Amino acid sequence: MGYCKRKKVIFIVLLSAAIFTVTMLKVPYSHFKHLMNNSLVDNLLHEEPCACAERCLAASDDDWFSERFRDDVHPLLSLSNSELSDSIFKWWQTLQSTRSKANYTEVIQKLFSVIPGEDRYRDADSSRCRTCAVVGNSGNLLGSFYGPLIDNHDFVMRMNKAPVEGFEKDVGYKTTHRIMYPESAIHLDSDTHLVLLPFKLLDIQWVTSALSDGSIKRTRFKVIDKLQANKDKAMVLHPAFIYYVRATWLHLRRSYPSTGFLVLMFALHICDEVSVFGFGANGKGTWHHYFEEMPKKFKRTGQHPGGLEHQIISELHQRNLIDLYTGW
Ligand SMILES: *[C@@H]1O[C@H](CO)[C@@H](O)[C@H](O)[C@H]1NC(C)=O
Repeated sequence: MGYCKRKKVIFIVLLSAAIFTVTMLKVPYSHFKHLMNNSLVDNLLHEEPCACAERCLAASDDDWFSERFRDDVHPLLSLSNSELSDSIFKWWQTLQSTRSKANYTEVIQKLFSVIPGEDRYRDADSSRCRTCAVVGNSGNLLGSFYGPLIDNHDFVMRMNKAPVEGFEKDVGYKTTHRIMYPESAIHLDSDTHLVLLPFKLLDIQWVTSALSDGSIKRTRFKVIDKLQANKDKAMVLHPAFIYYVRATWLHLRRSYPSTGFLVLMFALHICDEVSVFGFGANGKGTWHHYFEEMPKKFKRTGQHPGGLEHQIISELHQRNLIDLYTGW
């Protein structure tokens, strides 16, 4: 008997035995199905969760990651997910208290009369491989020659006023997403997605106004009233996402995560592979921005949990969940 034929016979015998067991011993069908699902069917029909060669982030089986990563928390506000629990709304209102008595529901309705309200980036599947570069503002980018490597990603995310011009060889040319809040905003070209990081309801009112009639001229201080940016590409981070990052990843330490850490978390949730550039200190242990002279007394981050955020980024890197480029 040939090997193949023997295998066939064994299979038929096993199948008969299984059917016999199910019918004669009345093993519940669900048990049988469960057995089949976990072994045979799963191995035979297993599809890769994404099309990337290196990794598919959301499908990682790393325990440490799975304990923290919640795929069901949408990073972006949309018409269908804008509802906020009372507790998160109250927490959010305390971040940068303003006297705004505006009605959240109405503010959101107005927002989505100016920018698109559909769900974005919920498109993970076996044919998608989305690679993302998160570019922080650290001085460790200077002299790194990371530019071409950064530009090689599908999405390149930058934050606040971080310039590209004059630093291209180290930071790249491309910007697909720029994460900003009113007080840190700059004008954008029409290809770049504006991603608002809202610390208060007034920030959402500001983006609505800044992309339409320009009626809001101050938040905590004087801000850009009419922003050059493509309103069809604008989006807003979800306050509940900011809360999740703080609660689940940072264990509620301090009041809120740093912008850089939030952008990294945003990338983890919408990309299949994430590379991180321009985070942390330079080779001499100093923390500063690549585009500014370092203030004399400036040593570490101000009000953010820099230590814990830094540990988590290292952990993500050590567990091979992200690629971390430190420039040295
Ligand atoms: C906010 O506005 C909505 C819709 O206009 C209304 O149904 C709701 O009662 C308002 N909430 C408060 C707290 O005023």
